[in-house]
Amino acid sequence: MNRLPVIVSIVCLVASLALVGIAWVITRDRPMGARAEAGVSGPVRTTGAPDVGGPFQLVDQNGRAVDERILKGKWSVVFFGFTYCPDVCPTTLAKMAQVKQLLGPKGRDLQVLFFTVDPERDTPAALKAYLESVGLPGAIGLTGTRAQVDAAAKAFRIFHQRRETGPGEYTMDHSTSAYLMDPDGVFSTSLAYPMTAEQDAEVIRDAMQQRR
Ligand code: NI
Repeated sequence: MNRLPVIVSIVCLVASLALVGIAWVITRDRPMGARAEAGVSGPVRTTGAPDVGGPFQLVDQNGRAVDERILKGKWSVVFFGFTYCPDVCPTTLAKMAQVKQLLGPKGRDLQVLFFTVDPERDTPAALKAYLESVGLPGAIGLTGTRAQVDAAAKAFRIFHQRRETGPGEYTMDHSTSAYLMDPDGVFSTSLAYPMTAEQDAEVIRDAMQQRR
């Protein structure tokens, strides 16, 4: 009896299982939640960095004009939210304060950029008062016209949507992921909302280390 077809079948089966396993490992570690939150559609990328970031024109909490060049020369955590946010934003900003402490001297190379998705309420003055209240010295708050804010959010693949909560009241639904950008202003990694300050600090430390 010729055993060759049997052996070929077994080899094919093993190879198929290996491919399924590899595909599973690749997709398992991808920030699918972030993609879904950001409303990103289209084919899932399996290689290379996601297309996160791009040009923007905004003002900071002191009314100074800021664009994407602010990302150059420093590591940055980029996060989108709004000052009226009841939970995700204050939690994230408090976590970033912890992360900066955990990083020790390296924390000085890290800046936190808080982009509002609610420019109607988040004026530079409102951002300034808010960032002072959350205890994150050096954080940069960014706002602008609705069109400028929408353009920045789009560049960073951030989902945001106004939702009416009562007469004259509204909240903003928004993506919860923060992004780590390298000193070239290029996307490094996502920092998912459920990650702890310790996990974030480890990821950032690793990214800084790998660049040396
Ligand atoms: Ni929020």
